[in-house]
Amino acid sequence: MKTNEERQRPIAVFDSGMGGISVLKELYRLMPHEDFIYMGDSKNAPYGERETEEVYRLSKGWVEYFIGKRAKAIVIACNTATSAAAARLRAEYPQMPIIGLEPALKPAALAYGGTGRTILVLATSLTLREEKFKQLLAQYRDKARICPVPAPELVELVEQDDIDGARMDAYLSALLSPYIDEDIAAVVLGCTHFPFAKHAIAKALGRETEFFDGAFGASKQLKRQLEKGQLLADRNRPGSVLIENSTGSPEMLSLSERLFAK
Ligand code: DGL
Repeated sequence: MKTNEERQRPIAVFDSGMGGISVLKELYRLMPHEDFIYMGDSKNAPYGERETEEVYRLSKGWVEYFIGKRAKAIVIACNTATSAAAARLRAEYPQMPIIGLEPALKPAALAYGGTGRTILVLATSLTLREEKFKQLLAQYRDKARICPVPAPELVELVEQDDIDGARMDAYLSALLSPYIDEDIAAVVLGCTHFPFAKHAIAKALGRETEFFDGAFGASKQLKRQLEKGQLLADRNRPGSVLIENSTGSPEMLSLSERLFAK
């Protein structure tokens, strides 16, 4: 049986920067009575261009940080850090519920598998080259035409608050031009920064397409896990959300707040 104090502890969420805020929004929507602490590690972004070991080391540092803050669960709101570090961290901290993010290829393939239409998977280079994604791809490769598209600069454009400017449009039209003649049914946003660029992606593709991301699935999974562990907060007031950024920069904090409020 968990104590009342344990149930009231915050849920910790981290990402390499702004991206995880797209997950934090979903978590807060689903569990509005929980307290959240968010760390955007913009100082070390992008994780997707680093080596696996480095991303593991950075992620472990955040897990330790949040244990120091008495978090009751940790959400790795980053597909890249999940691929690079989640399995090791779960083995090292078996008492701590650790939830990760993965590209939402499964729901996209279930929706469009067998139609002969194309599914684009936009993610970081590291996510796409890790074993976790290779296994996911192997599971659904026969069901749909799946095209993995590494999109590293998209992370930086979101970090620089260049979400709907000319640089974003130019980058996306060059990135997506090889697929423009394909019959694209869906785009999997396999990096938590990318939901913020959804409108620009739709504009670059110039057609209706369905987007899939992992935020809702991960949030539901955490809620289930907290329920099972009797760790859901049982307070009446709305939960609090504390957003931090490893740069300590007021501009980055204000961008984080704006993206959260969007
Ligand atoms: N937001 C992260 C993800 O979901 C990674 C961005 C980065 O490369 O730092 O993959």
